[in-house]
Amino acid sequence: MIEKINSLMAEIAALSASDLKGVEELRIKYLSKKGAIPSLMQDFRNVPAEQKRELGQKLNQLKEAATERINALREELENAPAAGADNIDLMRTPAPMPLGARHPLSLVREEIIGIFSRLGFNIAEGPEIEDDWHVFSSLNFAEDHPARDMQDTFFIQRNPDILLRTHTSSVQSRVMETSRPPIRIICPGRVYRNEAISARAHCFFHQVEALYVDENVSYADLRQTLLYFAREMFGPETKIRLRPSYFPFTEPSAEMDISCNICGGKGCAFCKHTGWVEILGCGMVDPNVLEACGIDSKKYSGFALGMGIERITNLKYRVKDLRMFSENDRRFLNQFQAAH
Ligand code: DAH
Repeated sequence: MIEKINSLMAEIAALSASDLKGVEELRIKYLSKKGAIPSLMQDFRNVPAEQKRELGQKLNQLKEAATERINALREELENAPAAGADNIDLMRTPAPMPLGARHPLSLVREEIIGIFSRLGFNIAEGPEIEDDWHVFSSLNFAEDHPARDMQDTFFIQRNPDILLRTHTSSVQSRVMETSRPPIRIICPGRVYRNEAISARAHCFFHQVEALYVDENVSYADLRQTLLYFAREMFGPETKIRLRPSYFPFTEPSAEMDISCNICGGKGCAFCKHTGWVEILGCGMVDPNVLEACGIDSKKYSGFALGMGIERITNLKYRVKDLRMFSENDRRFLNQFQAAH
């Protein structure tokens, strides 16, 4: 037994551990109920009476030494500075950090804004939670116009006068109410419609609206602005075509097609073999709208246009499923230009 005690004593003096888990393992090995020292104490019972005194003392010393050593190791590790703090290599090249990419809708929105700002348009913004007046009534929507229908518009349950805007045309009336011509604004923003979500429709999407009000603004101004926009956006070969249409807030109204930028106008599956794709709605601001916003329609005229950013993005980048824009799938998003 005395040999065992001596060899354990030597072992304990030389104990070391590299972390707290190691210290705990040592405690279990030597001091726990089934550890080396308590088992020696069990054996102590069988020691002949004349040796008990000497061995008992030695055993106690061993236990004390082990407890002290293990506590010291623990304390040392607990108070040690973060591992390796002295060895940090400040000159080491860091691991490469993956850069994100701009969202395709942001890229296209910025591009549209860029084109219109070169023509002197300024950005205007309005709230997404709107009132009936700015989304519908001020824009000449009749009381029973189907666009107000519950199926299209998200109303706030407790107050049907408050709703999520269904188009960015609401920003037109906000700006016209609070400023005087000349007005030249571009309004990007998110809009909401109560649509079932599919590859071709979503309950929210993005639009850009443009409005120009001044003396003598004519349809020719609208047409030239549209041509400039289409060529900047889709290339100098792009042709435009205006088809008569109807919007409550413009008179006359039109929809603009561009020559299909995928087949160059020859006809393909994308343009349904017509050579043309529709990209926006536009028209001359209805005098009723000018008057509703406090602008003298005898003195001033204007044009407006509105387009879906998703639609333009689909044409530029051939995204087939609208849902990809809001799914945050990095495999999709990383295909677009890296962040600067
Ligand atoms: N607000 C229309 C929509 O959401 C788009 C639009 C059409 C805007 C004609 C206009 C316009 O400014 O003149 O479908």
